[in-house]
Amino acid sequence: MTHEILISSTEIKQRIREIADEINRDYAGKELLAVCILKGAVIFASDLIRLLTVPVSLDFMVLSSYNKQTSTGIVTVKKDMDIDPQERHILIIEDIIDTGHTVSHLMSLLKLRNPASIKLCSLISKPSRREVEVDIDYLCFNVPDEFIVGYGLDYEQHFRNLPNIEILKL
Ligand code: IMP
Ligand code: MG
Repeated sequence: MTHEILISSTEIKQRIREIADEINRDYAGKELLAVCILKGAVIFASDLIRLLTVPVSLDFMVLSSYNKQTSTGIVTVKKDMDIDPQERHILIIEDIIDTGHTVSHLMSLLKLRNPASIKLCSLISKPSRREVEVDIDYLCFNVPDEFIVGYGLDYEQHFRNLPNIEILKL
């Protein structure tokens, strides 16, 4: 197995700064409920929320895991959020939007809970893989159709700790 750096930690840091500035502008005067989707988004969310100047509450959800390198399209909630999102401004923080199934299921589910608003923030998108349309409000990077690891993203639970985003070559 070899890795090839696709996005360096320096580039990630710069881009998150830009996204955080946008979020701070857009949510001025509001309070955010940031929902980090575990486990993949944990590193991204922790870096991002520390750059937010608007008031933020943090919650977590665990959704059904990705099975190796294929997506099933079946999504289940393994751990739900603790905070009631009713009348709150939800910002979902995801690691990667691939086929789009996970996040579109999640958005429909959360909309039923009557939040004041719901937006999506993702570290990565692979637009060429999309099977359902997803509107990403804040996106750090588009990547080509390669399997990537690092900065929270895993291959069979490995490599989440890598500081750069890398292409996994099996
Ligand atoms: P989707 O439902 O196909 O959009 O899949 C989203 C989930 O698949 C992400 O939350 C990841 O857990 C996983 N995933 C998709 N592509 C990759 C990748 O390149 N590396 C690591 N995980 C991935
Ligand atoms: Mg994930």
